[in-house]
Amino acid sequence: MEPFAIIAVSLLLGALIYFISAAVTGSRKSLPQEGSIVEEDSKVSNGVSDKNTASKKQKLQRLRKEKLQQHVFSHPLLATSLKDCIPLAFITWLANEETIRVFKMIKKDDGTFTFTAAPEDFPKKHKAPIVNIGIAETGKFIMSASNDTTILIWDLKGEVLATINTNQMNNAYATVSPCGRFVASCGFTPDVKVWEVCFTKSGSFREVMRAFDLKGHSAGIYSFAFSNDSTRMATISKDGTWKLWDTDVQYKQQQDPYLLYTMKYEVSDPCRIALSPDARVVAISSGFNITVHNAKMGKQEEEILNVHGEEITGLAFDVNSRFLVSCGDRAIRVFHNVVGYRAVIEEMEVRLKKATNEAMRERVQQQISDAQKALEAVCIRKE
Ligand SMILES: *[C@@H]1O[C@H](CO)[C@@H](O)[C@H](O)[C@H]1NC(C)=O
Ligand SMILES: *[C@@H]1O[C@H](CO)[C@@H](O)[C@H](O)[C@H]1NC(C)=O
Ligand SMILES: *[C@@H]1O[C@H](CO)[C@@H](O)[C@H](O)[C@H]1NC(C)=O
Repeated sequence: MEPFAIIAVSLLLGALIYFISAAVTGSRKSLPQEGSIVEEDSKVSNGVSDKNTASKKQKLQRLRKEKLQQHVFSHPLLATSLKDCIPLAFITWLANEETIRVFKMIKKDDGTFTFTAAPEDFPKKHKAPIVNIGIAETGKFIMSASNDTTILIWDLKGEVLATINTNQMNNAYATVSPCGRFVASCGFTPDVKVWEVCFTKSGSFREVMRAFDLKGHSAGIYSFAFSNDSTRMATISKDGTWKLWDTDVQYKQQQDPYLLYTMKYEVSDPCRIALSPDARVVAISSGFNITVHNAKMGKQEEEILNVHGEEITGLAFDVNSRFLVSCGDRAIRVFHNVVGYRAVIEEMEVRLKKATNEAMRERVQQQISDAQKALEAVCIRKE
């Protein structure tokens, strides 16, 4: 897949995790449940006049589409496959090779959306292809990482606020933490490096500060993920393991992240790891397959094979930890996070025994019954 398509789809995924409930309910009526293909980048690329590669790209897309239409996928945990344009509504940024282009999203009277490219691209600053871009949930900055050792921090108008040299030989993956406080990257070296992007109280950019490293793998790291408040991180490496970390540390007081455990797991690239926002579930994709693990001890509970017609390029949970979303071959698949529901029930049953007052008992009981209902709904559909 060319970088453009990967970025378009992963951005779509990034946006989708915030709006997944609407996307799932909104699309159920009109969509086939199996073998769907997301059509987004053919639409989006209308706005992108990459002249010399356009016809080549079209041809590639057509070939790929023909190939992909043969990929039929169904699974009991599948909530939906998306080719609807609802999630498109949320793509506002696209990276095209070495430049970043801004798209404004305009809602038309009939409820559909059109995209208009901003008059100017961000100035071209990267000297190598962009591998990831991210937007801080706080709206304060944008990150872009290229496959050399550069990460740029931009304001929303396209001014570079800071340039980070990751010193990792090359950047394999970089992201903004869901809380919008950190930027992190991994590459050829066996560590994840984490920086804090600091702003003054009045909101102006101050500095990028080295926060902490995750050190302990013995080979390069393919991918890593944060929980929603950045107190947990998961990493997966070429050394044949994945690890869960407690990153709830005062790094300014020289506290280091704490390794919770290491699990054996042989994978090859491309490989992605995702951590649910509530840190209860870890999902790993490798090639066409996904496994889902209870994060308490790392035990594998689900395996989903041949999810996409091409290798999986993106994996994430929605903000409420209810769905796991994967993308590859320009399709997006949404799975019920049953491992998460089971983990909630397990955890709340322990808490129920320890509850000291009626109000607390009621609250915990409510969480158990919500999770049970969600789980039953999936199981009924399964039959
Ligand atoms: C960076 O991307 C270019 C273009 O796709 C590729 O030729 C090069 O091998 C990549 N470099 C690394 C270090 O992955
Ligand atoms: C993180 O997720 C948990 C569990 O869903 C939620 O209670 C908490 O408010 C979230 N925190 C943030 C910072 O979003
Ligand atoms: C995915 O699972 C299938 C079936 O178990 C297996 O044959 C294949 O090698 C797996 N692919 C990857 C990349 O793990």
